[in-house]
Amino acid sequence: MFEPLGKAPISRDWFGLDIFESGVRFRRKGARLFLLEEVPSTNDFLLGRGPSALGRLCQWENWGWRAFDLAQLSPMEKLQRGTVVVARHQTAGRGRQGRSWVDCGGLHLSVVIPPHPAARQKGFSVWLGLMVVMALREEFNLDARLKWPNDIRVGERKLGGILLERVGHGECYLVAGMGLNIANKSDDFPSQLRSTATSIFLETGQKHKPGAIAGCIVRRVEDEFDRFAREGWLPWQASLSALDCLLGKQVNILSGGKSYEGRSLGIGPEGALLVENSAGETSHFYAGDVHLLPAGEGGQ
Ligand code: BTN
Repeated sequence: MFEPLGKAPISRDWFGLDIFESGVRFRRKGARLFLLEEVPSTNDFLLGRGPSALGRLCQWENWGWRAFDLAQLSPMEKLQRGTVVVARHQTAGRGRQGRSWVDCGGLHLSVVIPPHPAARQKGFSVWLGLMVVMALREEFNLDARLKWPNDIRVGERKLGGILLERVGHGECYLVAGMGLNIANKSDDFPSQLRSTATSIFLETGQKHKPGAIAGCIVRRVEDEFDRFAREGWLPWQASLSALDCLLGKQVNILSGGKSYEGRSLGIGPEGALLVENSAGETSHFYAGDVHLLPAGEGGQ
């Protein structure tokens, strides 16, 4: 066992490689999984930024994942389909809207999504969030819901979030990064997050290895992607309405440097958040930061 100075020993299988059952796209010959001990950000590692990191490269062979020895691995020189990066620790994780994502010991995962017309659709990032929510509900018995555009929530608390980054213009690759709290206990969160964050362990009392959760999420996205590409939003509209934690609520939304208030009418077929103001006018928001207003606030 390799033991860097001042750190806990690196266990060979903190991730749970044997239970990481991705779908076929990540089980093609040549698919690569990077299991890193610590990086500034898994998205950045995929995007070729930042320092090299200690970790294991795993490669899909006909019989399963082959894990190579621990080595110093360099950030990607170019994006390749079928690449997944998971880090045990992140030191400079990035969140949406320029925020940071604090490492509280959860799952930090980034995947490459190759150029595809479906991934360029406006609602793609909302759809990704919905896939995560549905996978967690069905496979881990969690009452997960979606907060537009792609926060994963249980009740009022945040369980995870997704950062989707486009690389280049037009026919471009995407990098989807997800942070998810898995085995965190309350004390693992910094005090300012303790009342707003939750984890799968806190909600269900069960501890899962990151590989089990990552596998079920990646599989879900892969299984449903072709249908999304063929049929668009329609097959998911009912699930989306049932799992949308803002629907019918008073919200405040910051978008394009302005603040708006109104009642959420739900998420439209292109992934826009529909908000009705007190004059009965409806606005469509494609980007922004939304907050629930306390009941009774904001009229209506
Ligand atoms: C958000 O809710 O603001 C999105 C958070 C996304 C965090 C993940 S963790 C893995 C990947 N690497 C990053 O630097 N960010 C994403």
